[in-house]
Amino acid sequence: MAYQVIIPAAGQGKRMGAGKNKLLLEVNNVPVLIHTLKVFDEDELCEGIILAVNPLDTEEIKILLNKYKVKKVLNLVPGGKERQESIYNALKTVKNDGIILVHDAARPFILKEHIHRLLETAQETGAAIIGVPAKDTMKTVRNHVVMATVERSSLWAVQTPQAFRFSLLYRAYEQAEREQFIGTDDSSLVERISHPVTMVEGDYDNIKLTTIEDLFFAQAILKKRQGSF
Ligand code: CTP
Ligand code: MG
Repeated sequence: MAYQVIIPAAGQGKRMGAGKNKLLLEVNNVPVLIHTLKVFDEDELCEGIILAVNPLDTEEIKILLNKYKVKKVLNLVPGGKERQESIYNALKTVKNDGIILVHDAARPFILKEHIHRLLETAQETGAAIIGVPAKDTMKTVRNHVVMATVERSSLWAVQTPQAFRFSLLYRAYEQAEREQFIGTDDSSLVERISHPVTMVEGDYDNIKLTTIEDLFFAQAILKKRQGSF
């Protein structure tokens, strides 16, 4: 039932516009990165965390890991230019073929209950991702002209974590590298090698902190969880 998790944290947070890695910004006086790491550090089924970091952030992150007593980080690997490259660097350090999760450091609100549901599914099927049904009406648009209205009931917004049998994910990454394919998530690489991926329903609070207004949503989510909203 145990798993390891790769946490890519080596981005630059350009869309946040803070002039530094958004993961070092604080929400309720604690860095975003630490909020995320603590979920896994405190999960009894998590055997270890592999963290991909930008070499320029490494010193600051090491200090934070000490300060906040994060215990399960096995390895700090250097990030790459793309998220996919950061994760590939981390995958290359994994030794045994268990279940591996990939979770964006920028999603601090993932719940343990959902991690476990995802894990169970991945153990059965080899590949599972978490997401939520789309709420808005969705259309395809080209040059500001609406082309079609997509049937909403088949659309899901995809989040992380995503969970895979390690050997399957590694094969998907090797194939993507051979073909120079870059995807926006890990599932898309596994889909390309024709392995079925199961969708597990998560919740709408599991947002990715991307732009400045997400920091306000983050505060609201924390307040809600503390019962003061
Ligand atoms: N990430 C990474 N290595 C990269 C790019 C991104 O490890 N070369 C990580 C980010 O740190 C983040 C996750 O992948 O935890 C999702 O990426 P995103 O939300 O796009 O973060 P950034 O790339 O930092 O932000 P931006 O795209 O706005 O620059
Ligand atoms: Mg990015």
